[in-house]
Amino acid sequence: MKRKLVLLLSSMVMIGSQSAFADNAATAKKLTSLLVAARSVVAGEKKLIDSPKGALDYEKFYDKMDKAYKKVAGDKLTTDDGPTKSMVAAIKEVVEKAYTGGYATAWPEGDYKNKFLPARFAGEVTKAFNAKEKSMFMRLTTRKDFLINEKDNKADDWENKVIEERFVKAGEKNPIQEVAQRDGKAAWRYILPESYSGACMACHGGPAGQKNHKLSGIPGKVNEFGGAISFGIYN
Ligand code: HEC
Repeated sequence: MKRKLVLLLSSMVMIGSQSAFADNAATAKKLTSLLVAARSVVAGEKKLIDSPKGALDYEKFYDKMDKAYKKVAGDKLTTDDGPTKSMVAAIKEVVEKAYTGGYATAWPEGDYKNKFLPARFAGEVTKAFNAKEKSMFMRLTTRKDFLINEKDNKADDWENKVIEERFVKAGEKNPIQEVAQRDGKAAWRYILPESYSGACMACHGGPAGQKNHKLSGIPGKVNEFGGAISFGIYN
């Protein structure tokens, strides 16, 4: 009798933690899909990239984002949970700051001086999201060979290991999830790999890539691993 109870209790704990991980994975998929969708809208708006001030119609942006989300995630965006609300609010904050000229001098150096690049937009959104959801984090990263923004996007040990072993060497294309440390704290972690497409080559491929990927001088290739969106929930 006692043994049965222990078994029952321990299986309940197991089911409990498995469903918590399933919830985490659903949250991760939703939030990363939303970031990918919003970033794809920026990537398609040349005027916004070149000079964001006054360059866009908010309603059109959010409308396009909803449509892109449906494509990326496979269903309609619902904003009834806290983390999704925070991500939408973070996107709106960054879009509105861009529109009102808040990034006019944000990137004062280099070949892409003050350009509102999709990766910069996404980086700003992750910072705004992280400020709202203290128990979670999201960030952009890539392999050391391709890294441009060392200050913000350098992979940590766990990201580096997953990127090199699973995404680069084994060629896996699906997100990986694991319990691992982040900044000395235990977290449930999730990382979504992304491949370079032809549109990335102007800056990440060929001679431009050799120059931009300054740690290695190795350019990226179409359809190969290009970067990742890393997400986590602290225990
Ligand atoms: C116009 C040039 C340009 C294009 C096109 C471009 N990128 Fe980038 N990318 C950059 C620059 C510059 C940075 C560094 C941004 C910053 O200041 O944080 C960057 C950053 C990144 C990062 C973050 C890691 C890092 O090195 O800081 C990833 C991942 C990335 N790009 C992937 C892509 C992918 C995938 C595509 C195509 C879908 C793409 N980029 C298209 C110029 C470009």
